Amino acid sequence: MEFRRINGLPPYVFAAIDQMKLEARRAGRDVIDLGFGNPDIPSPPIAVEKLAEAARNPRNHRYSASRGIPKLRLAVADLYDRRFGVQLDPDTEVVTTIGAKEGLSHVMWVLLGPGDSVLVPSPSYPIHIYAPLFAGAEVRQVRLGVSATGDSEVSKGEEFFGNLVDAWESAWPKPRVIVISFPHNPTTACVDLEWMSRIVSFAREHEIVVVHDFAYADIGFDGFKPPSILQVPGAKDVAVELYTLTKGFSMAGWRVAFMVGNREVVAALTKLKSYLDYGTFQPIQIAAIVTMNEASEYPLEVNACYQARRDALCGGLQRIGWEVPPPMGTMFVWAPIPEPYREMGSLEFAKFLVAEADVACSPGIGFGPGGDAYVRFALIENEQRTLQATRSLKRTLTKL
Ligand SMILES: Cc1ncc(COP(=O)(O)O)c(C=O)c1O
Repeated sequence: MEFRRINGLPPYVFAAIDQMKLEARRAGRDVIDLGFGNPDIPSPPIAVEKLAEAARNPRNHRYSASRGIPKLRLAVADLYDRRFGVQLDPDTEVVTTIGAKEGLSHVMWVLLGPGDSVLVPSPSYPIHIYAPLFAGAEVRQVRLGVSATGDSEVSKGEEFFGNLVDAWESAWPKPRVIVISFPHNPTTACVDLEWMSRIVSFAREHEIVVVHDFAYADIGFDGFKPPSILQVPGAKDVAVELYTLTKGFSMAGWRVAFMVGNREVVAALTKLKSYLDYGTFQPIQIAAIVTMNEASEYPLEVNACYQARRDALCGGLQRIGWEVPPPMGTMFVWAPIPEPYREMGSLEFAKFLVAEADVACSPGIGFGPGGDAYVRFALIENEQRTLQATRSLKRTLTKL
């Protein structure tokens, strides 16, 4: 049998680590899992209460609206106003999606087809590369420079901007879309509003659509507040942004996100989705409305929790002689493989850490060729377990 659209997918390298982790656990070993970025912090209690209440009403059991019920779109418009000072028309500039991943995948379908090309950072969250490929487009990967020396994260954006411009200039046909995502998974690179202004000007000048996956909108450390691209005047002419309740509100399993911004792109995705789905289960939408309106400070608690874990991990690694620049955002630490182990490559090194230290992490190669000198740690274990992981790494990494 042939499955044409998925034939080209490479083997999923994270699966190898997952398998080792499962086997070790079955053998009774206590593996500390810093691999998959699956948030462990509970969702806000009010979300759970409202979900249960709304689920008891049979009127909420029917098909819902695929673009999201009006009060849900209004709630995210209010959130953008409070948080970013960005005004959104809930009717024309907001569409609800079943997670940011679904929104991103389907917006690529409406923006791109065979013969089109798109610029995507590398390394990258895998769907940023595969969504345009599924749409039939050609993906040009743009190196997102990451320095292992602890330079300021914002300066990394500087190098990336230059790489983007070079990639655009040398590409033919000219890319119609640029995908960006800051704070960035896996590299944790962050940019400021000034950087966003530059990309908006560039996109306006060359008639490019910018799709900004803002999954880590709420996760910025030491006072850093990740900017929304829509804070840039005129951004709505060229940009859409994906905002999700997955990370900031720790509601990963609920699958509630939004695509906001340019009204033509919003209308196009809304149209496609009206053919594809009947919307998220209505009690979930109702719970999401109440959560955004009444638990609007919850992301601050979530953020503080990730910051404390970041400090535990980066501090612990530093004490054992593994220098890792502390990230300014995301729920990850992107760690350059220490010199004496670098030759192993990230997959072998990650396997070594599960086998010898009982610590699971993600091999950087899984995020693209630019990632092979790194492993990614997800901050999904509490501080105590995180510190336990660093002690175990110290025993294993004897060449440090
Ligand atoms: C960059 C990025 N985008 C999107 C997602 C997934 O978001 P959602 O749960 O809203 O689909 C993740 C999750 O790890 C992510 O890192």
